[in-house]
Amino acid sequence: MPSGFAGKVALVTGAGVGIGFAICRALALEGALVTLNDIDLALAQQAAEKINAEIGEQRVQAHGGDTADVPMIRALVADIVEQHGKIDICIANAGISLFSTFLNFEPESFDKVIAVNLRGSFFLAQAAARAMIEKQTNGRIIFMSSVAGTQAVPGLSAYGATKAGLQLLTRTLSLELGSHGITFNAVAPGATVTERTRLETANYEQDWAAVIPTHRAGTPEDVAAAVLFLCSEAARQITGHTLMVDGGWSRTSPMPPVY
Ligand SMILES: NC(=O)c1ccc[n+]([C@@H]2O[C@H](COP(=O)([O-])OP(=O)(O)OC[C@H]3O[C@@H](n4cnc5c(N)ncnc54)[C@H](O)[C@@H]3O)[C@@H](O)[C@H]2O)c1
Repeated sequence: MPSGFAGKVALVTGAGVGIGFAICRALALEGALVTLNDIDLALAQQAAEKINAEIGEQRVQAHGGDTADVPMIRALVADIVEQHGKIDICIANAGISLFSTFLNFEPESFDKVIAVNLRGSFFLAQAAARAMIEKQTNGRIIFMSSVAGTQAVPGLSAYGATKAGLQLLTRTLSLELGSHGITFNAVAPGATVTERTRLETANYEQDWAAVIPTHRAGTPEDVAAAVLFLCSEAARQITGHTLMVDGGWSRTSPMPPVY
């Protein structure tokens, strides 16, 4: 399976815990040099140290910053290129989900979700793509979408719109920039057990296992495996695609009764 990440330079956003952390860990274990971004610098540092300690090498460096901040994103990509001479892999993972009924959704909350999930991912991909074209790195850009970008989920109207937007962005960029050797793909996790989602309902894991065809909620490692495949040489002909990692949930999409 995925190999050939030695010497690859990667950036993963929103990676102090959860899915992003698992992606950083998997990339670093396969030999990549990874910048692990999180809005919480201390958390990013802890996470990077944990992975480096496991590997026994300094392959992961921490970065603190808000991916809704476009100048910050541009400076971060420029720093990586200055330090390593290139960027091969960019994972726009940072995303926030604010639950609210549509009728009660506040403009401030809407703007926040758009700023991180859609605007931040858009300009991160732009900064990375510019650097990949300049350095001719045949790069890989992955957007972290969601099953909520394909299926209707009550309470996630704004979030779902951003995640659907990322799926279309993936398709558009694959056309617009395909000739540069960059592939653009999205990964759409279903219910995945992370530090955050565990707190969503009292029995998150069991509630979702009951309605997912594989009878289990996903893990961050399930999502990381899909990301690594799409970033591998083996996936060089796959672009503009959204890969669902949801145990088949999006085929029928029943919600647990608790929702
Ligand atoms: N967990 C799931 O069930 C699930 C399902 C579908 C999609 N997703 C998507 O996967 C991605 C990761 O999900 P998760 O559950 O692992 O995330 P999470 O909510 O656990 O957050 C991971 C990290 O992102 C950081 N973060 C938040 N906003 C940020 C910002 N503006 N800039 C930088 N860092 C920021 C947080 O500090 C946190 O450490 C998100 O885009 C999410 O929408 C998750």
